[in-house]
Amino acid sequence: FVLLRLDLLRAGVGVGSSAPGLIQTPIASVLDSIKIMSSSPVSYDYDRQDASGATCTAHAWAKVPPALGAAEKEATKARIKELLKQRNAVLVAHYYVDGDLQDLAQETGGCVSDSLEMARFGRDHAAQTLIVAGVKFMGESAKILSPEKRVLMPDLDATCSLDLGCAADDFAKFCDAHPDRKVVVYANTSAAVKARADWMVTSSCALAIVTHLKEQGEKILWAPDRHLGRYIEKQTGADMLMWNGACIVHDEFKGLELDLLKKDHPKALVLVHPESPESVVAQADVVGSTSQLLKAVVESDAPEFIVATDNGILHRMRQMAPNKVLIEAPTAGNSATCKSCAHCPWMAMNSLQGVLACLEQSTGEITVEEATRVKAKGCIDRMLDFVAQNPAAITKPAQGFVPNIGTA
Ligand code: 13P
Ligand code: SF4
Repeated sequence: FVLLRLDLLRAGVGVGSSAPGLIQTPIASVLDSIKIMSSSPVSYDYDRQDASGATCTAHAWAKVPPALGAAEKEATKARIKELLKQRNAVLVAHYYVDGDLQDLAQETGGCVSDSLEMARFGRDHAAQTLIVAGVKFMGESAKILSPEKRVLMPDLDATCSLDLGCAADDFAKFCDAHPDRKVVVYANTSAAVKARADWMVTSSCALAIVTHLKEQGEKILWAPDRHLGRYIEKQTGADMLMWNGACIVHDEFKGLELDLLKKDHPKALVLVHPESPESVVAQADVVGSTSQLLKAVVESDAPEFIVATDNGILHRMRQMAPNKVLIEAPTAGNSATCKSCAHCPWMAMNSLQGVLACLEQSTGEITVEEATRVKAKGCIDRMLDFVAQNPAAITKPAQGFVPNIGTA
């Protein structure tokens, strides 16, 4: 028997075992509820996931540090630059974090990129300390690949709803029940979940890797993002059994409102991250990872774009395509509410102050238990080897998309 939260069970969502409001249910019915893959709207929140509340979105928003005044910001940036050199450290940032952090990473020889390039950059860079500005799974991937390096993060509470929604124990039972399937997990999972997987993928290379597995005659067990899984399943025709997780940010984009917005902007190209619901992906001109969407903005002749991904990426899009008009895709109608409103609360926890604390006080160190690390490394290496051997299989970020990439 395992424990499930009643409201999520009704919605067909498997959750961790420590939440209140739980019932006991036989594993078979848990697995059925996961397998059913309801495509009806699911209400996600994480404010009851643990007693401390550390995993809820409200906790994350409350921990977003206040914006610094201009003078303090400049002084903090200058101190960080100095300490990065002194400590032989490099800043590895995701496109969704604060623009100042993205700029600082770029100016100091670090990297601003999607999760695939962050993993490669951290692995290949000579610095002994990696400061990862993103969410915890990104720091864990860096540590798994480079155990000899110190990996620090501005706030270790910066998690991800996909990681939270895929507890390692429940996932292990799901895998045990389907030994005939290759286990493919998205990067947005814990080290313990990766330790159970055959392959890790990111949104940049998921299509290519699942296509490859299908060609080998493999059936797939996929976790945790149901929207990305469904998109890949449709594109490849692979036999995929899905976990039922979602990203709270992309899950809030609305197909109906997008349709209305498109009517107001008939010339705009619609760019969609595949963690978005089917009704949104169906209206996309380009579906891709964060770097693939950035590439589309820069390379397309279109003057206007509607962007369905975390709005943190608009910073880099504006820098790289200053003459293009960028419109955020709608997360809800005017009278509705949203939890993320197109910005990930956990990404928002990353700040200049947090990076400075990492460098001054060595706060936020990522650790991964060695046996788990060794097992988890297998699926990440498999992905990195695949993309190295099949460079044409993924849309490579063009020159300038990942600053300083050649230096790593
Ligand atoms: P990318 O790999 O496309 O950067 O996506 C990571 C992520 O967390 C998206 O929500
Ligand atoms: Fe996770 Fe979504 Fe945040 Fe990405 S944007 S880190 S998938 S919650």
